[in-house]
Order: sequence, then C-alpha cells, then structure tokens
Amino acid sequence: MELIIQRDKEAAALLVARIVANEVRANSRAVLGLATGSTMEAVYRHLVQMHRTSKLSFAKVRTFNLDEYVGLAPEDKNSYRHFMNQHLFQQVNIKLDNTHLPDGCAADLGAECRDYEKRIEKAGGIDLQLLGIGKSGHIGFNEPLSALKSRTREKALAPATIKQNAPFFGGEAKMPRRALTMGVGTILDARRCILLATGETKADIIAQAVEGPITSMVTASALQLHPKATVIVDEAAAAKLKEREYYRWIFTNEPEWEEYR
Ligand code: F6R
Repeated sequence: MELIIQRDKEAAALLVARIVANEVRANSRAVLGLATGSTMEAVYRHLVQMHRTSKLSFAKVRTFNLDEYVGLAPEDKNSYRHFMNQHLFQQVNIKLDNTHLPDGCAADLGAECRDYEKRIEKAGGIDLQLLGIGKSGHIGFNEPLSALKSRTREKALAPATIKQNAPFFGGEAKMPRRALTMGVGTILDARRCILLATGETKADIIAQAVEGPITSMVTASALQLHPKATVIVDEAAAAKLKEREYYRWIFTNEPEWEEYR
C-alpha cells in the first residue's frame, strides 16, 4: 500500500482524477470501478473538466459501480445510478450501455449479485477501482465483519453508515437499510485500487485502515493485502497517521510519482 498526502481536498481529488485520466489515455477500453459519495464529487468534476478542455474521451470506457441501495429505482434522486448520471455519465461521452450498477430493484437480488460478478468477469475484470471510506471503515458497503473474501451480495447497513448518509434522505427513517455491494474479495480482484479520503472526520478511520491491523471490522484495511493500492488523503484526513513524514518522502522521491508532483 502507498499513502499520498496532498495539501487540501481539492488537490487530493485532482490527483485521483489525473490518475484515472492517465489510465483511460493509456487504455481507451479501460474498465473503471467507480464509487459514489460526497468525496467523489470533486473527482468527477475534474474528469468532466478534462473531457471538456483536454479531450479526455470515455467513448470506449466501461464502468462498474461498487454499490446501490436496495429498493431505489434508477430515477430516484438518492439512487447511486442517479448520482453517477448527474455527476459523470451525462456530462462526458460515455455510452450508458457501458455503465453498470447493481440493480437494487431486481426481483431476485441474489441472482442480480451473481450476474454482476459475471458481467465484471466478462468485461475482463476491473483495471482501476476508485474507493471512498465510510466512518464505519467500509469500502463499498462492506460493513464491519464483512468477510475479506466476500463477493457481490446484499448487506444490511451499519448504524454509522445510516447516520452518515441519512441527511441526503431527509432523515434516518427515510433511508434504505440495505444495499447491494461488491464484496471485499471483488474489490481486491481489481488490478489497481485508489482510495480517496478527505476531511478531519476521516482521520481516525484512515489511521485504523492504513496503520492498524487487517480486520473485517474495518474492511478498508483489507487494501493492505492488495499489490497495488494507493490511499490519497488531504492533510486533515492524514492527521492521525504516525508515519506521515515517511509517506511524504515517498511521494517526493519515488520516480513513479514524478509526473504528479
Ligand atoms: C459509495 C461507497 C461508500 C462511500 C463512503 C464514503 O459508492 O462505496 O463506500 O465511498 O461511504 O462516502 P463519503 O464520500 O460521502 O464520505
């Protein structure tokens, strides 16, 4: 795992967008794993900007989102399909047929999850997976105690997640209690993982995920097992990390990061 600290959340999101853009420029048929949530909005804003100003093309890109709420139709303004259409898909030249989210309204949710795994496999697997982190330590909706080998399935949301996302729904009572999510094992199969976390409210959980033990209680910690996982944070989210100076040294000195400095 690598950890990169940027001065603020805008710089952190721009770095993530530049990594995604380089992936797409190197492979026009890239398969991207995408995340939703407020942290990702700035990343998609930068990608839309790059599409408009520097001809970044999504014409052949395929995407698979991490998760979707159970029971929310695509047109529901709180569905993740709606979020993706609004923040990215309708603003770039991607073909909607090439964009995939699990269907939280499927009649047979188990079959939908198994089919989602097959669709990812048929696309050749995920080249680059974007991730946020929840206050429960989740990636996707892999709440505490999710098996580190889990695949796409239905999960009950943790109280911390319900509290975190309830404001978007106008209160906890109106929020779905379940979601379909790629499993931790599905995520770890991606060829590269990039996790973005910004703001002081993420400082504790980032320290646990990056410098703590690998545990199903904090599923983001499973990224420590991944051969190519990069965690990008702003100063606020980095505040509780013990080895900050070492991480800064890596970013400033390693040739791999030269083009991004
Ligand atoms: C959303 C997802 C979640 C979020 C996480 C952080 O698709 O997979 O894991 O990335 O809950 O959400 P924000 O960015 O709103 O703090």
